[in-house]
Amino acid sequence: MPHHRNLAPPAQRGADRPVIHDELRSHYDALYDLLLNGRRARDARPVLDVGSGDGLALSAIMQGTPLHGIAIDSAATGPWLGPSDWALVQADAQRLPFADSRFRSAMMVDVLEWLRHPAATLREIARTTNGPILIVQTDWEGLWFQVDRAEIGRDLVRGFTKGAPEELRGLIKSAAEAAGVTVTQMSSVSIETNRLDQGSLAWDVLESIRRFLVIESAQVRARRFDDWRSELQLAADEGQFSMLVRRVVALVEAGET
Ligand SMILES: C[S@@+](CC[C@H](N)C(=O)[O-])C[C@H]1O[C@@H](n2cnc3c(N)ncnc32)[C@H](O)[C@@H]1O
Repeated sequence: MPHHRNLAPPAQRGADRPVIHDELRSHYDALYDLLLNGRRARDARPVLDVGSGDGLALSAIMQGTPLHGIAIDSAATGPWLGPSDWALVQADAQRLPFADSRFRSAMMVDVLEWLRHPAATLREIARTTNGPILIVQTDWEGLWFQVDRAEIGRDLVRGFTKGAPEELRGLIKSAAEAAGVTVTQMSSVSIETNRLDQGSLAWDVLESIRRFLVIESAQVRARRFDDWRSELQLAADEGQFSMLVRRVVALVEAGET
């Protein structure tokens, strides 16, 4: 399972409170607007969040809004960092313990690549949701570290992203078609950052890459990784660094195409 890939900050940072990367705030605001899909907040709840993990992405999207709902995950999660007024239920998204049309919105952030049966899961979410379903998946193929506009460390990044689904848009379209739901909107969102200070998005993504390549899978020697990391830091100090990451964002609704 590709559990090493995530845009969330490392668990130890922030301890028991949600940490939201500044670089992603406007992206999360846009996801909230998309989930409302022109409705008033009271017409968009309750919301089902599928594959919540510790609730960080949910918190980032819902913080300070009047939406509430139920978060589900098939795994027992660690400390809950999601909104305190949301119920957390352990369940498999392919067999949801909820009645038909129980929710008026649903969302699923960075879960698609984990699913064994995306179409069956989407069909089950659509059964319980009378309203839009927001699907967000980081497109790991689009993760780039640049120095002076040229990509560096491609092989290291590929070691981290190996196994992630390609052609995400096609995957979503075919899963939706097989599930009998309609894709009403789909776009690729590019997030670019020049920051590489502690706690920044790029810093935390590099921490995740190091943890996976050097410690968990031991495919790369620490010195090699750290040399690459230093080169990026040097470039950042000179204003020549950037990291790019892409996310595919789709809205689907029950109903035949
Ligand atoms: C990368 S995490 C995403 C967590 C959170 N949505 C976020 O963006 O921070 C993927 C989560 O999906 C959950 N998951 C995977 N397959 C699932 C399924 N069939 N039903 C429910 N949850 C599932 C995993 O247990 C994991 O917590």
